[in-house]
Amino acid sequence: MSLLKKFKNPRAQHNFEGRTCSITSVGSYVPSRVLTNADLEKMVDTTDDWITSRTGIKERRIAAADEFTSDIASKAALLAMERANITADQIDLIIVATITPDMHFPSTACLVQQKLGARRAAAFDIEAACSGFIFGLEIGQQFIMSRTYETVLVIGAEKLSTIVDWQDRNTCVLFGDGAGAAILQHRPQAHGLLTACMGSDGGKASLLSMPAGGSRCPATAESVSSRLHFLRMDGKETFKSAVNAMNSAAQEAMRRCDIDITQIKCVIPHQANRRIIDAVGERLGVTPEQLFVNLEKYGNTSAASVAIALDEAVTSGRIHRGDLVLLVVFGAGLTWGAAVIEW
Ligand code: UT7
Repeated sequence: MSLLKKFKNPRAQHNFEGRTCSITSVGSYVPSRVLTNADLEKMVDTTDDWITSRTGIKERRIAAADEFTSDIASKAALLAMERANITADQIDLIIVATITPDMHFPSTACLVQQKLGARRAAAFDIEAACSGFIFGLEIGQQFIMSRTYETVLVIGAEKLSTIVDWQDRNTCVLFGDGAGAAILQHRPQAHGLLTACMGSDGGKASLLSMPAGGSRCPATAESVSSRLHFLRMDGKETFKSAVNAMNSAAQEAMRRCDIDITQIKCVIPHQANRRIIDAVGERLGVTPEQLFVNLEKYGNTSAASVAIALDEAVTSGRIHRGDLVLLVVFGAGLTWGAAVIEW
């Protein structure tokens, strides 16, 4: 019997009057330029040993000066569209999750719509930092389940290299650029996004933010010279909040589906720090065989992080049709979330 039919918990958001929301394909893209820890040793007072032991990151990708978030997003989207065998005309809605839009407005989603030639699609951005891809899946799922749309494109895309302070060793070693995309559609066969849950805590907004550039602190010569247009983070407090929130979100998602961690084939956590991933994995009882980690190659790509990892888990054969997959994320806001997918 399909897992979808077995689940009894009424809060699981699947199989609503015969309607399911499948992720019919995924795709990802990372820029070709690699910035290694050895490169960073020449830029700030750091060492490969510190970065590797404190974070697990060995290298990250950096987009070219003329390659924008909308370009990175479009490349990931085109791959997902090709794999789902859909044309741009079939897309009803484009959701781009990003904290590094091409510009404040218009939305990066509208620029992606133009690049893809998806003329029928409505398009908008969401901003939930590193949690953005799961927030996007949850929003996209609602449109599919309500029968409003048939085909939704969800993208997590970032050019974080433009908001990283390359003079701040506390943060510049952590982040990278990239994008991941997913096509959501109703499919008669029973597999899909079983549940997605989201959480937020604006009381801890100051832990991770970019202070200037918005209505609170518009761009001035002073804001630029004070380096307020770069990302700032209280690493230690963010770390603690991340472990707690990711653990709770994952537990909640599994509870909604009446499953436990032993039934999950692959756990894909936000790729921010290997120590956070291991601490969350330990609390959840995840085995090394279940855990998917690729942050050594890309660092933290924020909204793109779990989207790229999901694509790599699928293309590398770690996930097969019918497997249960748990995504769990955490980011600025604070925001967090988890999703259970029957692949
Ligand atoms: O995606 C959104 C969520 N983001 C995260 O989840 C990130 C959460 N935080 C973290 O991953 C970790 O807190 C960091 C990796 C950012 C930092 O690790 P930590 O173990 O918390 O280090 P720390 O902040 O306690 O710093 C320890 C020392 C400090 O020196 P002092 O003050 O003890 O002399 C730092 O100045 O390490 C120093 N340090 C560095 N040294 C060499 C900080 N960055 C570096 C560096 N290279 N790049």
